[in-house]
Amino acid sequence: MSRPRVHVTGAVPARVAAALAERFQLVDQPQGADGVLALLTTTVDAAYVDAAGPQLRVVANYAVGVDNVDLEAARERGIVVANTPDVLTHATAELALTLMLTLLRRVAEGDRLLRRRGSWTFALEFMLGESLAERSVAIVGPGRIGLATAQLVECLGARTALCGRGDDLAAALADADVVSLHCPLTPETYHLVDAAFLARMRPRAVLINTARGAVVDERALVDALRNGVIAGAALDVYEEEPDVAPELLELENVVLSPHLGSATRSTREAMGMLAVDALVAVLVDGRRPANAVV
Ligand code: 8YV
Repeated sequence: MSRPRVHVTGAVPARVAAALAERFQLVDQPQGADGVLALLTTTVDAAYVDAAGPQLRVVANYAVGVDNVDLEAARERGIVVANTPDVLTHATAELALTLMLTLLRRVAEGDRLLRRRGSWTFALEFMLGESLAERSVAIVGPGRIGLATAQLVECLGARTALCGRGDDLAAALADADVVSLHCPLTPETYHLVDAAFLARMRPRAVLINTARGAVVDERALVDALRNGVIAGAALDVYEEEPDVAPELLELENVVLSPHLGSATRSTREAMGMLAVDALVAVLVDGRRPANAVV
């Protein structure tokens, strides 16, 4: 019997590529594929799955976020969609913490100063930052990654407020020194952080985004940062990746990283192996994988 055909939408780690090659016939196009292993940069919408053809049975997304996949279109066509939860929780929480500390302790700003050969000398009032200890951190989206981030910041002495659906977001924002975003991007969370949200934050507070770029209205954020509505932002994700709003590049009170939340070797391999397991479950074993979201 011929092996199921799988299309992979981008380069994957060698270990994942080997596992795929062992079980599947890898094809260059989604057309005619039984399964797709999709990177989060691939938009898997109705047109995509229709072009692939009616034999398509599973889309394994190489990410925990599934905002690049039209879940309704998949559901209507009986296509299983799987994601990669849990294995990236620690790495992403760790990056959220890294961004917080980098921003609060002004590490990236200091690095930029030295690299441009700026003049400096040790002084007691030079480049003072803030400690996380005893600060209040609002976790917007207390799912797996949000809760792991809460645990990490609590280890450093911060207090946390968990804000899920139905919680009093305004009260949490009014009290927070750090607002860290961990919610998925859905129609409900699109531009959740808009001018009104930012205006509810304290002027000394900072925003951290390791969720999805479009949870934040980047224009409103730039205005808030320029006008002192909030004190700073650290971002790993952007509305129009890989583009970054040029205004953000100019601001000293901003730390930027290029979507690195899950970017450790072992995490990316574990994500890939989980995605391969989902493809095997559907295409070889004929069962629904545990990590199916549709
Ligand atoms: C990110 C992701 O690296 O899996 C996803 O959906 O985007 C993660 O791997 C992270 O959320 C962005 O910091």
